[in-house]
Amino acid sequence: ASAAPTPTPPQMGFNNWNSTHCRDEFNEAMIRGIADKFISLGLRDAGYRYVNIDDCWANWQRDKDGNLQPNPKRFPGGIKALAAYIHQHGLKFGLYSSAGTSTCEPLQENRGFPGGLNHEKQDAATFASWDVDYLKYDNCNNQKVDAKQRYTAMAEALRSTGRPIFYSMCEWGENKPWLWGGKPPVDAGSWRTTGDISDTYASMLKNFKENVVLDQYATPGHWNDPDMLEVGNGGMTDVEYRSHFSLWSIMAAPLLIGTDLRTIKPDALQILLNKEVIAVDQDPLGVQGKQVRDADGIHVIVKPLKDGSRAVVVFNETDTPHDVTVSAAEIGLKTGGSYNVRDLWAHNEVKGDGTLKLQLPVHATAMYRISRI
Ligand code: GLA
Repeated sequence: ASAAPTPTPPQMGFNNWNSTHCRDEFNEAMIRGIADKFISLGLRDAGYRYVNIDDCWANWQRDKDGNLQPNPKRFPGGIKALAAYIHQHGLKFGLYSSAGTSTCEPLQENRGFPGGLNHEKQDAATFASWDVDYLKYDNCNNQKVDAKQRYTAMAEALRSTGRPIFYSMCEWGENKPWLWGGKPPVDAGSWRTTGDISDTYASMLKNFKENVVLDQYATPGHWNDPDMLEVGNGGMTDVEYRSHFSLWSIMAAPLLIGTDLRTIKPDALQILLNKEVIAVDQDPLGVQGKQVRDADGIHVIVKPLKDGSRAVVVFNETDTPHDVTVSAAEIGLKTGGSYNVRDLWAHNEVKGDGTLKLQLPVHATAMYRISRI
């Protein structure tokens, strides 16, 4: 058999939105500090690559030639210099715009930041000239122009720059982007499948449930995106954040850190640095895990991995502890076999016949990698 090309795994990195929204603390000094932390905290070594900035980076107006420009208070050094700083760290840089007449955040009534609709060529050229590696392209103020048409226009404009720019569609799942976003002519790296996440268990659960049923539409290099991570932001317990990270990883979702890494607590950092869980997300087979059980608030999700092993998540969404048994057959294992069952949070393993018997606390997740002996 000939070697298949290595698919692009789900993107990993940081985006400021979940931690700062448009508050003043979102600025050049913060983003440089984040890039520094990627190195000092070991995040780059764990695979995180993109440092992305979200809405409110731009100035109110285009310049006299119609070019986008940064807000001079937030980014006095300009975007190209910021990109250079990030590149010097061995990292990649991402920017945000919207496939509409203006972006999503109106800081003042009737006034928005300029969007990309009908400016696709010019804006893509600007992004390339600033050495941008990634574009998150939002959906606000779209004037009801057909979504596929709008997202195709920017896709083609980005390609025509000749610079590889990862294309992250932020269409919120309104026009079923999983049916067309991953194919030519759009060929996006990912598309949002849900509305915005917030830092609550209920919101995380909602986005999980909407995304987990779309597994058949994810293909290597073209991923469902249930929105960015909230791990570390304080609105959930560590148990819930571990569930969040486990669920996103078994769904082969983008892993975009949404907390301020300059002040992150050690427990949250440990979650984001769990290399065994990250390896499931990034596995080169490139398959989104499939939900094989959704009953009485217990979810079982199984993801086949390149080396022939299987990752399994068992999640208790309910407000009471549960005893759960998962059979080898349910996981798709041959019955009567011998398996190594590695616990990806406890970092230990036991041998067995592939049956899982566990006690799951409230909102908790267990995650395993099961391989044949
Ligand atoms: C939308 C997106 C969010 C964020 C904001 C910025 O709501 O879905 O991820 O980018 O816009 O205004």
